[in-house]
Amino acid sequence: MALNGKVAVVTGGGQGLGKGFAECLLQNGAKVSLFDVDEKTGETTKATFEKEFGTDRVVFCACDVTLEEQFKDALQKTVEKFGGIDIVCNNAGIINEGNWEKTVAINLNGVIRGTYLALNHMKKENGGRGGVIINIASLAGLGPFPTCPVYTATKHGVVGFSRAIAMASAAAGYGVRINIICPNFVRTAMLGALTSEEQCGQFFQLQEINHKLLDSYGVLEVSDVVKAFESLVLDESQNGAAVSVGAEGFDYVKFPTAEDLKKKSNM
Ligand SMILES: NC(=O)c1ccc[n+]([C@@H]2O[C@H](COP(=O)([O-])OP(=O)(O)OC[C@H]3O[C@@H](n4cnc5c(N)ncnc54)[C@H](O)[C@@H]3O)[C@@H](O)[C@H]2O)c1
Repeated sequence: MALNGKVAVVTGGGQGLGKGFAECLLQNGAKVSLFDVDEKTGETTKATFEKEFGTDRVVFCACDVTLEEQFKDALQKTVEKFGGIDIVCNNAGIINEGNWEKTVAINLNGVIRGTYLALNHMKKENGGRGGVIINIASLAGLGPFPTCPVYTATKHGVVGFSRAIAMASAAAGYGVRINIICPNFVRTAMLGALTSEEQCGQFFQLQEINHKLLDSYGVLEVSDVVKAFESLVLDESQNGAAVSVGAEGFDYVKFPTAEDLKKKSNM
């Protein structure tokens, strides 16, 4: 997929990984609509990008991914400004075991909402142009993160939902690919949650586990994850793929096949 002139939406695009994905899209010639609940950060990032890429290729929309109407309005505003949507990255996410309902609302419900609302604009049967949706999960979407059970559940949910809707999209001929990124720890503001009493909630006393995990896995830079993102956006052969990103680079996750699962259910 050539990115020049394409229109992209990145949720949580104000900082961290979302900002990195947005910058990569702009560098490749796309137009970007940044969605973020934090208006100050979103506007600052927009202004930074405008200096580098010009004022006609970036917009900021205040958008809380937990709010259906706000999300719908922000997508509509993007379509009105840029004339359609080709790429959506559902990236907004938090770690907050102390407020697990909010974590589910943003990390899982927000991704499902973002995928469905984006498909309404992108799928060919609605007159859309097709395209690609990238949903951001985590290594905690592939295995347990012991101090963050709810974060783990939401990220497993993102992986399962995205793989299934990718198959539905292909079967129904939506013309939209849906792929997943599962990064290891990344140097962003989110890591601060791992030492916050409020965000660790009842697992604050188990912080030693976080320190050990950080020591053993190491911490990636945003640019390491951006490489995986760029590849998944560009590679039109990938649909329903999950890519893990670690110290060794990125790799496609091998899941059990339908045949493997059938064999297991007959054991
Ligand atoms: N940093 C890591 O170690 C790491 C590892 C694996 C996966 N991830 C995932 O990457 C994604 C981005 O995380 P990050 O590390 O860049 O974090 P971050 O905290 O730096 O950025 C998250 C952004 O999302 C925005 N946001 C939060 N709630 C929102 C909401 N309700 N609606 C809209 N925007 C909202 C924030 O304002 C912020 O700009 C998340 O889904 C996270 O789970 C991060």
